Amino acid sequence: MLTGEDRMANDGVNTGRRRFLVTATSVVGAAGAVGAAVPFVGSWFPSAKARAAGAPVKVNISKIEPGQQMIAEWRGQPVFILRRTPEILSSLGQISGQLSDPESKDSAQPAYVDPVVRSIRPEILLLIGICTHLGCSPTFRPEVAPADLGKDWVGGYFCPCHGSQYDLAGRVYKGQPAPLNLSVPPHSYESDSIIVIGVDQEKA
Ligand code: FES
Repeated sequence: MLTGEDRMANDGVNTGRRRFLVTATSVVGAAGAVGAAVPFVGSWFPSAKARAAGAPVKVNISKIEPGQQMIAEWRGQPVFILRRTPEILSSLGQISGQLSDPESKDSAQPAYVDPVVRSIRPEILLLIGICTHLGCSPTFRPEVAPADLGKDWVGGYFCPCHGSQYDLAGRVYKGQPAPLNLSVPPHSYESDSIIVIGVDQEKA
């Protein structure tokens, strides 16, 4: 008889989860090199079964410093949570001409999220960490002009599988294998420091 673990190991969800866990490990390593790492979220998850069924996940974001990212998990997917600096936010408006869908008209995000900065509160960005090309997990590359990405790189997400590049709002650059921006998950604020992933923000 298969155990629960066996079943998990044989389903697609777990395969995808293993893939992002491997990538997330490398994210922490890369970000650690620039002093911007916060590893997997230390919050309270529901049971594994409830998570797989899509239960909401609460995340305490109070420990994310400006310029840092943490990674939560929702529905077996990585969710990037980035606290953006004023410099990052001001840079988003300067690269619109280089982006494929700068106002996210064709990309997946809740209606209550600003289509350009792609968040409820400007500084806090949530993204499903799965590339819209073939499903790898992009790496967080906040550095400006690193040697491997070139002098024009202003910080963003880089997919290691086929090289798709996204900005720090998850918007894909033109001419990339990925057709769409990274998706924004439904989310809401329970308080200033607690985000609930999987529950929509109510209308004000
Ligand atoms: S899966 Fe990301 S570029 Fe192909």
